[in-house]
Amino acid sequence: MPYRVLFISAEYAPLAKTGGLGDVSSALCEYLHSQGHDVRVFLPWYRDLNREGLDVSPVPGLEDLFLDIGPHRYEYRILVGTPLGYRQPVHFIDCPALYDRPGIYGHADDHRRFLLLTRAAFEVAQRMAFAPHILHCNDWHTAFAPLYLRTNYAWDRLFAATRSVLTIHNIGYQGVFWSMEVGDLSLGDAQWMLHQDDLREGRVNPMLHGIMYADLVSTVSPTYAREICTPEYGAGLDPFLRRRGAQLIGILNGVDYDEWDPRHDRHLGFEYSADDLSGKALAKRTLASEFSLSVGPRTLLLGIASRLVAQKGIDLLETVLPDLLSQADCALVAVGSGEPRYEQFLTRLAVEFPGRVHFTRGYSERLAHWIEAAADAFLMPSRYEPCGLNQMYSLRYGTVPIVRHTGGLADSVTPYSKTDRTGDGFVFHEYSPGALRAAIDQALALYGTAHWARMIQNGMAQDYSWKNQGQLYLDAYRDLVGSA
Ligand code: ADP
Ligand code: GLC
Repeated sequence: MPYRVLFISAEYAPLAKTGGLGDVSSALCEYLHSQGHDVRVFLPWYRDLNREGLDVSPVPGLEDLFLDIGPHRYEYRILVGTPLGYRQPVHFIDCPALYDRPGIYGHADDHRRFLLLTRAAFEVAQRMAFAPHILHCNDWHTAFAPLYLRTNYAWDRLFAATRSVLTIHNIGYQGVFWSMEVGDLSLGDAQWMLHQDDLREGRVNPMLHGIMYADLVSTVSPTYAREICTPEYGAGLDPFLRRRGAQLIGILNGVDYDEWDPRHDRHLGFEYSADDLSGKALAKRTLASEFSLSVGPRTLLLGIASRLVAQKGIDLLETVLPDLLSQADCALVAVGSGEPRYEQFLTRLAVEFPGRVHFTRGYSERLAHWIEAAADAFLMPSRYEPCGLNQMYSLRYGTVPIVRHTGGLADSVTPYSKTDRTGDGFVFHEYSPGALRAAIDQALALYGTAHWARMIQNGMAQDYSWKNQGQLYLDAYRDLVGSA
């Protein structure tokens, strides 16, 4: 049965992306669309939206709209358009007062910016007479949607059979704002449904309310679903997650192989496959020469493309990389941005090891693809990782992932066994420089041997496409709709 799905997310690739949330939102919606489901996607019309090849038009009847976010009145209109190369249309909320500014996040009124996104999705669904089976929200930005379904919009029969799903992409970001601004929720008498202890302590936590009120909570890997139920990984919300029992599930993210596959990567300009890896060698030579790296055939080229934040284990690299680069035949090419401390570390490393380290500070989709193709091994020593996409991209690009055993990294990378020649990467457990170094040393020992070639073949044969992972979401939708 085709489902009607109202999908709200702060990011949607290739239009608005800071990390994996963008990739996953659009890839999942494309999959649902391809299966014949009627999906309505809502996204802010950010000033910095990637508008390349995007044609939008205002939706008649959805202009001159108003919405009160507490005492603040906002005027907005709806635009619609389909990103180049995609099929699923996107409805944009054009509200200059909130979205005509730089960046996606980082403004003092972010809670209002995303409350408008959340509420406008309901209001526009009403005007379109769109009765969703599933209301699918993502991360803290849209996590108040399940509560609104039970309060402000509960009167409307349009939503009588709607079931809500909250997908947690990262519990480390909860969107907490001051209780002084609790009026912005416009909950009226339903304010008692907020977490009262938090309120008394002066906080409102959007992620928490999603966890409390969604009909189903999902997260982006089975291991992370278990981890966030523990104090070590739950970021304070583990008691609430444990309470959800079987209504908390983990579905590993899929990969959009239209975008991420060396057999047709538009960023490379040439292709390669498991049968003929000469293009991979060419990518390594080309990138090395572009960045003046002296990389011989025996040099292990390590890659990184990441947000540079504590989650990603960059502090382990701070300890491990300087020694490694002075002792072993290896080099590093990295792209990323984030905390100044980590940006400075990589900048310094490039100065200290000329010809061995290249770092591009910033965001470059093209370079991320090139690094996947050119590197021999990809580093993801994450402290925690809900799913992680780059390790799955790496597998497809014949780039051996070196990962910590956590979250989706544990679910998607299998440690290589020399005895039975199975597995596709290097996996270490303890969050320590020593454990990371040992994993890299193993890689150095196997690089250039028949084991390495085997590992590449094992990795390239993996299939994490959305046709498998998307079906798991559809199964979850079916159970929810069945219970409606
Ligand atoms: P997260 O969502 O925590 O950032 P993921 O591994 O799920 O981690 O997804 C990261 C995505 O963002 C990947 O597609 C990766 O290539 C991309 N990415 C991260 N930083 C950069 C950057 N500086 N330039 C280009 N792409 C980046
Ligand atoms: C988050 C996580 C990452 C995950 C992505 C998409 O940003 O940090 O692990 O892959 O969301 O779900």
